[in-house]
Amino acid sequence: MGSTAAVVLAAGKGTRFHSDLAKVLHPLAGRTMLRWVLESLREFGLDRVIVVVGHQAEAVAAEAAASDLAGLSVVEQAEQRGTGHAVRVAFDVGALDGVDRVLVLPGDTPLLDAGTLHRLLDAAAPAALLTARPADPAGYGRVLRAADGRVERIVEHRDATEAERAVDEINAGMYVFPADALRRELGALRGDNTQGELYLTDVVAPLAAEGLAAVEATAEAVAGVNDRAQLAAAAAVLRRRINERLLLGGVTLVDPERTYVGAEVAIAPDAVILPNTYLEGATRIGAGATVGPDSRLVDALVEEGAVVSYSVLLGASVGPGATVGPFSYLRPGARLERAAKAGAFVEIKQSTVGEGSKVPHLSYIGDAEIGQGVNVGAGTITCNFDGRHKHRTVIGDGAFIGSDTMLVAPVTIGPRAVTAAGSAITQDVPEGALALERTQQVEVPGYADRVAGSEGDDPAGVA
Ligand code: UD1
Ligand code: CA
Repeated sequence: MGSTAAVVLAAGKGTRFHSDLAKVLHPLAGRTMLRWVLESLREFGLDRVIVVVGHQAEAVAAEAAASDLAGLSVVEQAEQRGTGHAVRVAFDVGALDGVDRVLVLPGDTPLLDAGTLHRLLDAAAPAALLTARPADPAGYGRVLRAADGRVERIVEHRDATEAERAVDEINAGMYVFPADALRRELGALRGDNTQGELYLTDVVAPLAAEGLAAVEATAEAVAGVNDRAQLAAAAAVLRRRINERLLLGGVTLVDPERTYVGAEVAIAPDAVILPNTYLEGATRIGAGATVGPDSRLVDALVEEGAVVSYSVLLGASVGPGATVGPFSYLRPGARLERAAKAGAFVEIKQSTVGEGSKVPHLSYIGDAEIGQGVNVGAGTITCNFDGRHKHRTVIGDGAFIGSDTMLVAPVTIGPRAVTAAGSAITQDVPEGALALERTQQVEVPGYADRVAGSEGDDPAGVA
């Protein structure tokens, strides 16, 4: 069959997005639009994949490169003069020299699946295009066929007559062409249409005469994303596909319609994901862990059997059997070791909480190293920042931090040491010692009775 190169068209601005960000860089279900298209190509191992960039060329090129797809290169279309012009630029710079067939894909079709692509590439004709019959064909080019059923040409929605617009078969914008014939017909393109652009669709008529197969795909597989309503609809489809794969792989999603899992997330069997949970980035969830409800995890690790509820985890990691929440905020570098706990209204960053250690209530732990079997009392905070620098707190194994302790860093609490509730600890506490830092308590005997007899004054002057 010879060598096949793919050309992915990603130079357009995406005017209908009304966005500062190039359209193909908009994310959905954990990947950019461009990345979804490139991933659909991965299993084909094509000789070359050429991404045509233009609008925000540098950022789009970087995103293409981030895919690490074999044979990838980028070609710049400085001025966006139409889809036909975009492919012509790839020829002009020599990116398609020596190639036998060219697969052309738009950069704005994130729902394209490998199965559909296989059908296009396997079509038994020199050229082939994908078509579909969506419920609403508005905006798409229409496939016009001759009386004998053969494809004659494509007409853009904008340029179509009423009768042509009534045709429900649309052009998906995905084609394979013999490279030589495509090069020739691109050279012959004239921009005589409402937009004055060089339309790739105009090569279809001449190439159809030399043998062209029309392969019908589902409307879903080839849906183009031109505005944010279509982006949201496509994201919903991708989420459904991801969730379906998870469910069939042994993950319990209590309500798949309200579970948002990115494409790069990995979840082991027997994990349970409760509703309204967002798993993003490179998040990994271990076997038998429970996450949610109402949680957001970005680049987080939750190991087997751990429980995370009503919490936000960003770049944090939770060891086996550990528990988080409700209402914890674990920031980058937070690590709970096995069976540790971060409870209600606890924020932790750049800190390790050792095996079996607990930070159950209302704490801030930053830049700390907490050993094993430590209990951190309610309201304890590490005062890690002096206004200019961050300092570390070290707490040894088995220490007991009394409620509302302020640990003024840098400070080290020895193993099995105890701090008294309400203490501001500014000096290191040796192993096994008690540190108590409070003013003496004063009692006023009979105070309540004196208040009752004095019609509202405060005889002791304390309240
Ligand atoms: C295109 C097709 C239309 C088809 C539809 C399918 C043409 C003329 N029309 O229309 O028949 O039904 O796709 O989704 O081809 N691009 C460039 N350089 C340019 C212009 C566009 O790289 O100069 C890129 C865009 O970034 C985009 C893709 O090509 O990723 C398609 O362009 P778009 O403007 O979205 O074309 P449609 O109007 O959707
Ligand atoms: Ca489009």
